[in-house]
Amino acid sequence: MKKSILWILVLLFVFSVVSYSFAQPVEVGIVLPTKDEPRWIQDEARFNEALKTAGYSAEILFSQGSSAREKENVEALVTKGAKILIICPHDATAAAASADEAKEAGLKVISYDRLILETESVDYYVTFDSIAVGEAQGQYLVDKATGTGNPLYLYAGAATDNNSFLFFEGAWNVLQPKIADGTFVIKNSSKAIDLQDKAQLTRAEMGEILGQITTEWDFTTAKNLTEANLTMAGPEDKGDVFILAPNDGTSRAISDAFADDKDVTSYVSTGQDAEIPSIQYIIDGKQSMTVLKDVRTLVKDASDAAVRYLEGGVPEATHTYNNGRIDVPAKPSKVIAVDESNVKEAIIDSGYWDASEFTGLD
Ligand code: GAL
Repeated sequence: MKKSILWILVLLFVFSVVSYSFAQPVEVGIVLPTKDEPRWIQDEARFNEALKTAGYSAEILFSQGSSAREKENVEALVTKGAKILIICPHDATAAAASADEAKEAGLKVISYDRLILETESVDYYVTFDSIAVGEAQGQYLVDKATGTGNPLYLYAGAATDNNSFLFFEGAWNVLQPKIADGTFVIKNSSKAIDLQDKAQLTRAEMGEILGQITTEWDFTTAKNLTEANLTMAGPEDKGDVFILAPNDGTSRAISDAFADDKDVTSYVSTGQDAEIPSIQYIIDGKQSMTVLKDVRTLVKDASDAAVRYLEGGVPEATHTYNNGRIDVPAKPSKVIAVDESNVKEAIIDSGYWDASEFTGLD
């Protein structure tokens, strides 16, 4: 018995010496929500490019849509000695506990792309202007519509993501006056119809609408919801339709379902993220537009903020976002609406994606 305990101790000692000598020190820990959406693979790739020149050591971990896994990732990075945590939460409120833990361990916490809610432990928020994303989507639909009575189908992101509310709020800012004047008629949300005369919605009201139109940022959920909506709708609710789709992944699923419906003559659909498959869809006329959020900018802003903190400074802020507890300093970046008319200039000529990724570009 004693002998076996001794052996276990020897093994534990050897293991800890070996793992210590292999453990890489990490100055900046990065936690991203999932590898299952091309959007976050983009961020990983852009971080890897940027890290080569950033001058600090970093490690990127993925949470795979699980708040528990996210917390383990944060703890692992704290254990490795990270001084800065850059984290894009899977669930905005659940991530507060991870932010608190990192903060208590002395790290600076940078909320990346999505804001962590209900905690004082967020130092800085690196973001795009998400209201502007929704406004660009709404404006695109408005610009393409003529006459009155145009069928409008609304879809949104996951209610656990604060951005979903901002995107919807931005779209509503632009669409609501055009619903009120009869240009559009909402076809797939009784809650949105109940609230269609209100120019500004409360978060709770948006939450009620989101409850009916959420895709959960998930391709299959988006497809099933769209098919259910199209089954409920009659031929008179179809024809030339307008679709607010929240991001590219869900837009491809939603657009495909509309394309497959025999009573849909034409559709205009939105998106965001400029994912490679959606840029191809735009070239092929299967998705109408996307919103380019240049991830290179976001990664650079996050990197710059990390370096500032490592050097004892404070990153530049032009704006604050309230997270339910505090006003978090931020510097929101611009976004660009992209459709077939400017896809070459905005996506290829800007160096965002290489022309070799696509077919049918002239
Ligand atoms: C949002 C993000 C979008 C989109 C979406 C789905 O928070 O801002 O760019 O990718 O999540 O993951």
